Amino acid sequence: MFNRIPGTKDILPAEISSWQTLESTARSVFTDYNYLEIRTPVIENASLFNRTLGPATEIVQKQMFLIHNQEDIYALRPEGTASIVRSYLENSLDKTAGFVKLYYIGPMFRFERPQKGRLRQFHHIGAEAIGSLSASLDVEIISLADRILKNCKISGYRIKLNSLGCPKDKQAFSQGLKNALQQQLPKLCPDCQNRSKHNVLRILDCKNEACREILKTLELQQEYLCPDCQNHFAAVKAGLSSLGIAFELDYRLVRGLDYYNQTVFEISHSGLGSQDALGAGGRYNNLVQELGGPQLGAIGFAFGVERVLLAADKGLGQAAAKKLAYLIPLGASAQSAGLKILDTLRKSGIRADMDYANKSLKGAMRSANDAQAEFVLILGEDELRKNTIAVKDMKNSTQKEVNLDNLIEELKC
Ligand code: HAM
Repeated sequence: MFNRIPGTKDILPAEISSWQTLESTARSVFTDYNYLEIRTPVIENASLFNRTLGPATEIVQKQMFLIHNQEDIYALRPEGTASIVRSYLENSLDKTAGFVKLYYIGPMFRFERPQKGRLRQFHHIGAEAIGSLSASLDVEIISLADRILKNCKISGYRIKLNSLGCPKDKQAFSQGLKNALQQQLPKLCPDCQNRSKHNVLRILDCKNEACREILKTLELQQEYLCPDCQNHFAAVKAGLSSLGIAFELDYRLVRGLDYYNQTVFEISHSGLGSQDALGAGGRYNNLVQELGGPQLGAIGFAFGVERVLLAADKGLGQAAAKKLAYLIPLGASAQSAGLKILDTLRKSGIRADMDYANKSLKGAMRSANDAQAEFVLILGEDELRKNTIAVKDMKNSTQKEVNLDNLIEELKC
């Protein structure tokens, strides 16, 4: 017997209705905000991620699923943004469409140590808006993420917000942090010592208790933001407030990927334990140019589907299922006549199934019950002769004989 790979998950029929509800709610919100769906491959050249996420980031250093073939190294995509910018440029959307608002739903892969809310194959529901620097777009993206959660009736989450500024500001912030940590460097964990050389801002994300204690002593402010970035951030905050979207400023929020600048945000949920980020995003105004395109503003976010579902602790419920009609054929000729009846019902949009196991009436009734059928249709030799069928209403246990010509009407009312 084979088992699934650690950190992957079978999504069984009992769980699927929550997935479908989340996906359909998200699709409907994306449509309301005028975002169009895009689907890109799950494998890409590994160099795409080295280039965009940053060679020193944890994802690139430790978490990529790599496929070494004879010519190239491919990677299972660890996130969607890089692929979408690649696709935007490869398909010349910068020339034909310019400003685009895209959304995506699909699996992502990261070689992480599996734990609650942390998988090796997980799923993103995300959006990317490419081609604008407007602060109103930052507000739209954050309000869109908030709307998806609200429409799923998820509460208890916090939106943390920060601005990393433009690359110059980010550089100044990194340098300031490096200076502030100079004396403490030997006391930081080995990972942070490494980060201090390659990606000092990531020290702010460290989960190590000793590092956290040291970081608590630092006074972090937004003194590094240039006037333009200050104005942009002020407009984002004002826009969110005008829509009544609650947020908290968090100057420690730096995000783990190199492509971010200006606005970054994370949506966390206290019910999730250590992996508490439901989703996150931010601006990446230099990424399109990094990949060979024009200088264009862009912003996006992604939810981790599994974590959103964990936050909706009682599940997201199901869309009202269609009533099921369950046919029990008694005998061989009823079997073949039954197939035709099923076909007619299904063509008329009635959800229908039948007993294929030739069970006794009692056994087949039990199966109908297990399948939560609303109606059981019993077809025996007698009924066949009279062109009728016995229709049992399972809710009120009544049974009547119905002419086959009237069956659809009978089941529809
Ligand atoms: P990220 O923060 O790496 O951002 O991932 C977004 C979300 O995916 C996280 O907040 C979390 O909910 C979920 N997630 C990440 N890793 C795992 C995992 N191993 N298991 C389960 N869930 C996970 C991005 O990927 C960016 N591309 C988001 C973005 C889009 N920024 C701009 N546009």
